Amino acid sequence: MKKKTILTGIRPTGNLHFGHLFGAAQNWLSLQDEYDFYLEIADVQALTDNFSNPQKVYDSVFELASDLLSIGIDPKKVHLFIQSQIPEIAELTVFYSNLVTMARLYRNPTVKSEIAQKKALFGNDGESVTYGFVGYPVSQAADITAFKGELVPVGEDQLPLIEQCREIVRKFNSIYGDVLIEPEAFLSKTPRIKGLDGNEKMGKSLGNAIFLVDDDETIHKKVMSAVTDPQKIKKDDPANPDICMVYYYHKLVNQENLNTVCQECKAGSRGCVQCKKELIQKMSEFLHDFRKKKQYYRDHPEEVLAILEQGTKEAREKAIETTKEVKKVMYIDYFGGEN
Ligand code: TRP
Ligand code: SF4
Repeated sequence: MKKKTILTGIRPTGNLHFGHLFGAAQNWLSLQDEYDFYLEIADVQALTDNFSNPQKVYDSVFELASDLLSIGIDPKKVHLFIQSQIPEIAELTVFYSNLVTMARLYRNPTVKSEIAQKKALFGNDGESVTYGFVGYPVSQAADITAFKGELVPVGEDQLPLIEQCREIVRKFNSIYGDVLIEPEAFLSKTPRIKGLDGNEKMGKSLGNAIFLVDDDETIHKKVMSAVTDPQKIKKDDPANPDICMVYYYHKLVNQENLNTVCQECKAGSRGCVQCKKELIQKMSEFLHDFRKKKQYYRDHPEEVLAILEQGTKEAREKAIETTKEVKKVMYIDYFGGEN
């Protein structure tokens, strides 16, 4: 039986953190055997926010690729590719742009909240919001449909983008003919991972993330300042682990001792400093394999590049195929579909 196609993307804006790993990437690992899996490093999309800082995006592509390989993404099973190196995605974006109204883009809840964030951040009335930014859902629809993605593993915040993609596909197919596949979101079972400060979201820009590349000293500093139960003042005060971020992270990396941590915390027989030190130790053990592989790829950057080149080549073949079909039904294949 033919494997189903899944596609997902990640913006290269820095290294992977625990939020990516537990919220999404671990799920990807479990999908690599069963599906024809396209994993896009979305550098063009990252440029919508970072167009004036292209070198940061460039460097992040390599960091992100080697992070992904180091957590166990297997390039023999997954087409790991770079968005910008598939010009057909840009072509499709242009074609789809006629099928979307500006009003609909502005109504997209994800775009809307991101514009609101920008306004708050830059303190202006939205004058600096670019065409590329408002249009990124169109480009993301091209990311998905270029590979005929059937399932798209994403977090909840991305649902409006998948819905917008489905609308574009329906419109395209009804006008030009049945070429594109309407994708479905494939929601991650793990909810969004909270930050060390208790914020609902872990993020680099929020300053509350633990990165997989963090060394022991950095992790020590971060965990020591994590938010615990504020009622607990003295070492032997009983506390509520459910409102403590240290306990929250014990749940992720210290399953085997979880009951003990919980009971001792409630009984007041566990000090927070000791509890944090144990967590730091567990995180360090958890990262052991990752660190070894990451070091290997740091020593062999040419291997990372070769993997990306191969994955991009495989992905591009599929995108070329789809784009030919698209151009044919749109009456823009003048020279026999050879571009
Ligand atoms: N917008 C996604 C995010 O910020 C990343 C992304 C780019 C993506 N292209 C995609 C996700 C295609 C799913 C499908 O997380
Ligand atoms: Fe949190 Fe551990 Fe302190 Fe309990 S003992 S409040 S779980 S750090």
